[in-house]
Amino acid sequence: MQDTSGHAHDVVVIGSGAAGLTAALALAQTCRVLVLAKGTLTGGSTAWAQGGIAAVLDTGDTFENHVRDTMVAGAGLNDRETVEFVIERAPRSIDRLCELGVPFNRDADSLHLTREGGHSHRRIVHVDDATGWAVQSALLAAANANPSITLLPGRTCIDLITDRHREQFSAAGRVWGVYALNEETGRVERHVARATVLASGGAGRVYQFSTAPRGATGDGIAMAWRAGARVSNMEMMQFHPTCLYSLEIKNFLITEAVRGEGGRLINPRTGQRFMEFYDKDRMELAPRDVVARAIDAEIKRHGLDYVHLDISHQPADFVRSHFPTIYDKLLTIGIDMTAGPIPVVPAQHYTCGGVVVDLAARTDLPGLWAAGECTESGLHGANRLASNSLLECFVFGEAAASDIRARWDTLEAPPAILPWDESRVTDSDEEVVIKQNWTEIRRFMWNYVGIVRTTKRLERAAHRIALLRREVDEYYGSFRVTTDLIELRNLLQSAELIVKSALARKESRGLHYTLDYPEMANEPKDTVLVP
Ligand code: FAD
Ligand code: SIN
Repeated sequence: MQDTSGHAHDVVVIGSGAAGLTAALALAQTCRVLVLAKGTLTGGSTAWAQGGIAAVLDTGDTFENHVRDTMVAGAGLNDRETVEFVIERAPRSIDRLCELGVPFNRDADSLHLTREGGHSHRRIVHVDDATGWAVQSALLAAANANPSITLLPGRTCIDLITDRHREQFSAAGRVWGVYALNEETGRVERHVARATVLASGGAGRVYQFSTAPRGATGDGIAMAWRAGARVSNMEMMQFHPTCLYSLEIKNFLITEAVRGEGGRLINPRTGQRFMEFYDKDRMELAPRDVVARAIDAEIKRHGLDYVHLDISHQPADFVRSHFPTIYDKLLTIGIDMTAGPIPVVPAQHYTCGGVVVDLAARTDLPGLWAAGECTESGLHGANRLASNSLLECFVFGEAAASDIRARWDTLEAPPAILPWDESRVTDSDEEVVIKQNWTEIRRFMWNYVGIVRTTKRLERAAHRIALLRREVDEYYGSFRVTTDLIELRNLLQSAELIVKSALARKESRGLHYTLDYPEMANEPKDTVLVP
């Protein structure tokens, strides 16, 4: 059997987060779907989302308001058609999640709406401050109960299967599934399919400090790039302004909704509320890029380790009931957010760029669709508006499924595919090389390709990447693959795409701020890289 997974399926979905499971559930109405996930089924960013999902549900709000806020945050680099496409589908996506049993907070008969930076209205539906976990659990329960869906965790996908891997070579560039490492047996399986959906999340772990989970190593973006798909706007890496500063708890997000519900940013040395020096009108509710840069500047100017986020002026019951997860977590390290401030720093949070997709979630490669954080759909532009990304996962997960279903009769059955070639590799005896390179990439990306950039720093990063590239390629060609090695290769590929894109953008726009080109160009233009 050429599909060595032992599972009969028509479509392979790579990733079990919001995008992958939405696509799988919609496809399962007519096809048999195999969902592959690295590590556990809840290992992606979806399970970690706190704030919520943006949707126009209030009578005082309009789609046009949401479109405008999205495009202001995105510094005009967004594709208006995509923005409208997603925003108009938001209420329906929320209805579907309600049908799946997501227990959104309510105010009497309607859903409770909170507020986040960059939003001119209250429009964030949420489940306390742990929305992602509730969404992930509901989607997984529905997928588990669906006989047409097989969930296969513990599979690290390595490379897309393309026409290069056919027994009869063809140069058409079509995708036929994926080679994946079975993390338990160490063997490489072929998962062959008529259609493949990439929903593998972002590349946040390319930075030393990130709110993203351990597995966010840009695997899908790197796989699609190697297979021949274009990627765009990879320089647009979003830094969340408020990640907890703590030696005991690493990478813990303090949701933007804390600022939405009145939280103030204060310089711990001067005691001053400093956002008035950076964005007098919007203050703490300015878009993320503005607030993150303000905190970065304040930290650098005053030689601080962190700034304070303070919501203790609100009634204690209000704080505890709005932010129960954060409140409990902070108490474990002796911080009572109802009584005093929280120390925070910016950290990488979201990958705005990715694999280029159209409104049907189609990539450049026939047979390959993509949805969610691994893509660049035109929604986010130069900076994602808070709580628009889960929404993008639902809308594009659905779009991928309906396009695959509509084209089903034209999708050929897969050809015979070559097995994974392990004839020239041995087991590694130098695992330390992987750890060393991984740490090095994440450090120089933080220091040279962070919130404020210069051409000189970007060139330094490019130089380091070229040196590491030789080492990693040699290592990859000599040793049997492991999850760590696969991730290192993809992390380096993602770093290269980010730095190349950053060097190509000769302006400052949204998340890309460079001291060498501080002005914004007249015409917004995507940075599109072609393999
Ligand atoms: P993910 O949920 O990241 O899932 C990726 C999947 O791909 C996982 O199953 C993973 O195992 C799998 N995968 C990856 N590589 C491989 C591989 N090589 N082989 C096999 N499988 C692979 N957005 C909002 O809209 N609202 C919020 O409130 C919000 N809060 C956030 C809070 C935090 C702390 C973080 C980190 C992000 C937050 N975001 C929020 C962003 C949002 O959570 C993500 O953008 C979104 O969940 C991405 O979903 P996804 O399905 O694209 O990918
Ligand atoms: C947050 O809760 O601040 C995160 C929201 C988001 O990333 O969209």
